[in-house]
Amino acid sequence: MSLHQAFVALDKSRHNTKGFDCGSKPMNTFLSRYATKHNKLGLSRTYVLTEIAQQEALPIAAYYTLASSTVNRMDIPAQQSLPTYPVPVVMLARLAVDKRFQGQGLGSKTLIYALRQSVSLCKAGLPAYALILDVLDENAMAFYQQFEMFQPFTKDPMRLFVPMKTLEKI
Ligand SMILES: CC(C)(COP(=O)(O)OP(=O)(O)OC[C@H]1O[C@@H](n2cnc3c(N)ncnc32)[C@H](O)[C@@H]1OP(=O)(O)O)[C@@H](O)C(=O)NCCC(=O)NCCS
Repeated sequence: MSLHQAFVALDKSRHNTKGFDCGSKPMNTFLSRYATKHNKLGLSRTYVLTEIAQQEALPIAAYYTLASSTVNRMDIPAQQSLPTYPVPVVMLARLAVDKRFQGQGLGSKTLIYALRQSVSLCKAGLPAYALILDVLDENAMAFYQQFEMFQPFTKDPMRLFVPMKTLEKI
């Protein structure tokens, strides 16, 4: 099964959101039921990598979702020179790979793609001090630990943080 080269914005009329299965029901349900709705409401934006196929609705191999958020400076490790008001960040709200493609490097590719896109958004004018993400479970933590750039939040080890300045170098 070959994949397209680039991630594209989710389009329910062209992408088979219901066929996606990463092994996590909440992640599957988000893609099939909420991603388009949230996109329309301006809450988040989802991008997909699809298989090259003849079907009208292309199978999805991987997806990620970006949103805006804010954090309290006291929750970020060693960032004391920031103002006291909420600090804007990009949130990597979702990232998942279909079971058929797991263990082949696609999760890493998806993550790098999402991180680079966050940098591009900032360069285009979106103010964000850092990127944050909430880790789904211990399996997902093992995945993110491969990438040494992430630091845990001071009060929540399942929430990870990486400064935008660090991402500019990847
Ligand atoms: C987590 C997930 C995205 C990983 O995708 P993947 O395509 O299997 O990951 P990759 O093949 O790119 O693996 C990258 C590295 O992470 C490691 N890794 C991936 N999953 C791992 C796990 N569960 N435990 C330990 N290491 C893991 C791989 O061994 C690989 O290391 P290597 O380069 O030294 O071989 C995928 O399993 C998934 O979609 N899971 C369900 C949803 C989920 O948990 N998403 C994360 C939300 S926070």
